[in-house]
Amino acid sequence: MLQVTTRVPAKINMVLSVGPRRTDGFHDLVTVFHAVSLYDDVRAAPGDGLSLTVSGPYADATPADDANLAVRAARTLAEHARVPADAALDIHKAIPVAGGLAGGSADAAGALLACDELWGLGLSDAELAAVAAGLGSDVPFALAGGTAVGRGRGERLGPVDVGSSLSWVLAVADGGLPTPAVYAQLDADRAGEPIAEPNVDDAVLDALVAGDPVALGEQLRNDMQDAAIALRPALADTLRAGQHAGTLGAVVSGSGPTCAFLVRDDEHAAGLAAELTSSGTCAAAYPVTGGVATGG
Ligand code: C5P
Repeated sequence: MLQVTTRVPAKINMVLSVGPRRTDGFHDLVTVFHAVSLYDDVRAAPGDGLSLTVSGPYADATPADDANLAVRAARTLAEHARVPADAALDIHKAIPVAGGLAGGSADAAGALLACDELWGLGLSDAELAAVAAGLGSDVPFALAGGTAVGRGRGERLGPVDVGSSLSWVLAVADGGLPTPAVYAQLDADRAGEPIAEPNVDDAVLDALVAGDPVALGEQLRNDMQDAAIALRPALADTLRAGQHAGTLGAVVSGSGPTCAFLVRDDEHAAGLAAELTSSGTCAAAYPVTGGVATGG
């Protein structure tokens, strides 16, 4: 086997409902994960020990050492399967770093899939998902792709069949937001208030199954949005710019700062991406389609 390349998508959270902080520091949540067509490519080639090279638009912001989740994923997989951790990893980084798009989790999922094949392990989906859950809350979804309801920390997944392809624009900010800081801001904002158990309305799932983007646009919601805006007030301008441009719905993705806009179709997405880019309220805007697969 010479080398294996796996294509892994970014995710957005169409809905993110966050419960109280647990004793282990994580928050129970219910979310609708949606994989979108902005991809990193993770390659694993034979190597002596583990090494990592990174290229692509967001390479400069990506750690290229043991702090990279892809390296930790490969090492954890080797330990799990009791094989030597020998692979030369390469990531082509097109997913913004610390953007609320689970780019690091995508790279971890890509490394698991590529090393599983390179090392001839043939682990089952369930076994890979268990290794993934130990690496991070979003890694199991990055392995699965498509659209899914996530529960627990986000690692317990139930796939959702979406009735039609959905078109989005991602507005990427200059620089990222650290996820723990956004959760800490959310906790501070809600201190002393009763916090409801996390929940996703049936109306969201009905709109997804029907493939009705107008109904879905009205349901987009993120409990972390105000906390992300508190830490990055300019996000309010980005959201307003998209809303003024006639989108079907707007939401900060995960812990931000990327904003996701639901639009009618791919043509609408291309027009909005150009409009957002020239509005000066974001660093870049990407038209994407949702519900894409992991792998390949
Ligand atoms: O699981 P992951 O390593 O991606 O989580 C990063 C950080 O985000 C955690 O250390 C925690 O502070 C926060 N987090 C959380 N609740 C979740 C997921 C993440 O508080 N469900």
